[in-house]
Amino acid sequence: MCSLFAVNTSKENNMKLKVLVLITSIVSFCVSPAIAQMGTESSAANTPRLNTTDRFIPVIARNGMVTSREKMASQVGVDILENGGNAVDAAVAVGFALAVTYPQAGNIGGGGFMVIHLAEENKSIAIDYREMAPSGADRDMFLNEDGSVDDNRSKYDVKASGVPGTVAGMVHALENYGTMSLKEVMQPAYDLANDGFAMYNYLQSSLNGRKERLMANEAAGKAFYKADGSSYNFGEILKQKDLAWSLKQIMDGGKDAFYKGEVAKRIVADQETQGGLITMEDMAAYVAVERPVIVGEYKGHKIITMPPPSSGGVHLVQIMNMLEEDDLKSKGHNSAATLHLYIEAMRQAYADRSKYLGDPDFTDVPVDELTSKKYAKLTRALIPTDKSRRSTDIAPALNILAESPDTTHFSVMDSHGNAVSNTYTLNFSYGNHKMAAGTGIMMNNEMDDFSVKPGTANGYGLLGGEANSVQPRKRPLSSMTPTIVLKDDKPFFVTGSPGGSTIITVVLQSVFNVLEFDMNAMAALAEPRIHHQWMPDAVIIEDGVSKDTKDILIGMGHTIMPMPFALGSLSTIMYKDGIFYGAADTRSMDAAAIGY
Ligand code: GLY
Repeated sequence: MCSLFAVNTSKENNMKLKVLVLITSIVSFCVSPAIAQMGTESSAANTPRLNTTDRFIPVIARNGMVTSREKMASQVGVDILENGGNAVDAAVAVGFALAVTYPQAGNIGGGGFMVIHLAEENKSIAIDYREMAPSGADRDMFLNEDGSVDDNRSKYDVKASGVPGTVAGMVHALENYGTMSLKEVMQPAYDLANDGFAMYNYLQSSLNGRKERLMANEAAGKAFYKADGSSYNFGEILKQKDLAWSLKQIMDGGKDAFYKGEVAKRIVADQETQGGLITMEDMAAYVAVERPVIVGEYKGHKIITMPPPSSGGVHLVQIMNMLEEDDLKSKGHNSAATLHLYIEAMRQAYADRSKYLGDPDFTDVPVDELTSKKYAKLTRALIPTDKSRRSTDIAPALNILAESPDTTHFSVMDSHGNAVSNTYTLNFSYGNHKMAAGTGIMMNNEMDDFSVKPGTANGYGLLGGEANSVQPRKRPLSSMTPTIVLKDDKPFFVTGSPGGSTIITVVLQSVFNVLEFDMNAMAALAEPRIHHQWMPDAVIIEDGVSKDTKDILIGMGHTIMPMPFALGSLSTIMYKDGIFYGAADTRSMDAAAIGY
């Protein structure tokens, strides 16, 4: 095993390496005969490519890699790979395991998106398992009688939940692209739920932070706190017996157990008791959908990413296209000149998002236009060199041609070159903070990702319009951006992040850091990031960007917002010359890249 938080298990006596390990204190290496050569940059094939000057070192492995937001789940994935499973088997096992060990966002009561690249067939697949509005939903369901938005209802009411998609998505991926049985890949999740796991730092702190709201729901209160209402302490065993029951139903009965069988009955009974909208018919009607991937072309690389109902892929490619002709490297990483271009391109993309993006089954989304080189050129030409624009002056512009955020992402690669990039969520941490009684399943509050009233911001401050209005059986617009960058048609960089509206810009900067600034997988995550989403008209800049740079940006007219939180939590894998480089975000306690 080779883990981000593990001590260096290498038997190598290379002192230079050991010093490097101590200095960075976040490093571990798998035992590797080639590691002794790491002190110098080497072009020899099959030699880890790192420089003596690197300040951030990824996890290195030769056979496969899993990177996720929670280390027990990463280990589950690696065990599957070691037992002969492929990347899809491992990804599905991680997806179910995170539902147990990372209940803030890992889920079976939510939904998400998976991008797969199959090496042998050189084929890329996008699986949309986004939640779906119940048939009883309507456009104005979150408005008060006077037409104002009831902010609480779309976020924390029982009606905030869409029909969950995760089980359908995971089963679809496994049945079509995996090699193992559902029982085999779900067993570790079942064991973690039934036998329990030791309470760890991040979960303890997260459950403490959400105690009042979670305790307000009887089932959630019983699941996550002791019988006397006290919290689990670090190292105490948390067992989730109701969740184990649900997982067992699925293991034995497949997805029908969840959508038509005993689990569906308990979810719907809970909805009926609490005044929710999800019916047995809604559950039975849910399907995961395969959609054509978005393929961006960027300086000899293919950017394989997620189409609508996520906006992530469209705007990732749009922004990259806009800046393709700019020599970002010579402008300098995170220099004012580079950040200015990022901000202005982001501003345009999020303006477009507000108008054009929605569920493609309900609205025509102009994907080809938004991702075209022509549109990129026209909109790039509108960016002034030396001054900021105001968002009120920027409109969705296709006429010039004739969304405490807690989502979670994991990346997997296997020894065959298959890659999986998966982002899924309950929306906010713990969704609407309601657990369907008797199931152990936390329900999502994804209905808030709809535009509940055109022109009114959602939980992430994102504006939207008709294209993303609430309609029965429609899927809310997302920003999730699971992405695989191909070089010579082979996965080179697998990336993705949580972060609500910031997902797109966080993923963008990981890709630019690798493709434009030649950073290794860990450096590409560790560097400070920025975010601008058109409205509000202000940029978030993480710590680490110099005061001089910020002053220059302010001088250009940019408004800098106080940093409300660190931006995103990337889980990435780079694959180069037969070596896997894994990186879990330095911002994220208890995250882990594990290789073997
Ligand atoms: N729930 C956040 C997103 O899908 O973008």
